Amino acid sequence: MTGLPPRRADELLRAAVGHLRLADVPDPRIDAELLLAHVLGVNRGRAQALALLGSSLSQPVADRYRALVLRRGLREPLQHLTGVAHFRRIELLVGPGVFVPRPETEVLVEHALRGLPEGGTAVDLGTGSGAIALSIAHERPDATVIALERSPEAFAWAERNRQHVGAANARVLAGDLAVAADLLPELLAGVDVVVSNPPYVPDGMVPRDPEVQRFDPAAALYGGPDGLDPMRAVVATAERLLRPGGLLAVEHGELQGEGTRALLADGWTEAATHPDLTGRDRVTTARRAG
Ligand SMILES: C[S@@+](CC[C@H](N)C(=O)[O-])C[C@H]1O[C@@H](n2cnc3c(N)ncnc32)[C@H](O)[C@@H]1O
Repeated sequence: MTGLPPRRADELLRAAVGHLRLADVPDPRIDAELLLAHVLGVNRGRAQALALLGSSLSQPVADRYRALVLRRGLREPLQHLTGVAHFRRIELLVGPGVFVPRPETEVLVEHALRGLPEGGTAVDLGTGSGAIALSIAHERPDATVIALERSPEAFAWAERNRQHVGAANARVLAGDLAVAADLLPELLAGVDVVVSNPPYVPDGMVPRDPEVQRFDPAAALYGGPDGLDPMRAVVATAERLLRPGGLLAVEHGELQGEGTRALLADGWTEAATHPDLTGRDRVTTARRAG
């Protein structure tokens, strides 16, 4: 990044792509363009157009761009640098202390929505930024959605996002998912959908991406020796919250479909594992037996 002509968008962009490529950032051009768009306050298409036209940035904006590119090169998540993550139809505010929502989780929401009757109730266990709960609330204004989170930092992000999305039909509660049924006595055996993307990385496994390893909270990642300890608590809580025939939809690692279905052997019907958009096992659903 040294010796750059300081202010032309096309030159800044070219240097940024080269820098991010050398830093092994997976999509260097996309990230360089999105950061340019961010500092200019425009969308990505407009940033590309300004670069094509060889437009000049003001010195402070060019300096800010270079600083963000350097941080991205150190593998800080793009979403921490822009402060937002896009998930399905909503924009979420994210930063240190909260798990950055992933595209594969959008499929989990699809399953949850399919199980939600008109005017129904959904509970999201371990809501993080609120991605799942607030998407459901946004896409189904007729539904009531309750989001639960144990980490105080993540809880604050979820509550901020509830206001950001303007989801009047969602409520964010602080608490442990293992005791969620005790926190919601009025909902015992009355919930239509329990959905969760719990921590599921086995304790001994080191995530490959530096963004995950260094910036996602450990409490959002690790799930005990086989990664399924939080899942066991999710299933136990869902057993108490769901009405007969109610739907449980959970996300898990690509090798955890069988282990998750094994937790649903008694008291559940229709247990099935579904692939994500890349064809990997990612979501298991089941219905509470009557
Ligand atoms: C993998 S992240 C998923 C966050 C969000 N649902 C999403 O899909 O982007 C797991 C979340 O569960 C929370 N969590 C972990 N253990 C929990 C527990 N025992 N009770 C409540 N929340 C918990 C973590 O703090 C984290 O926010």
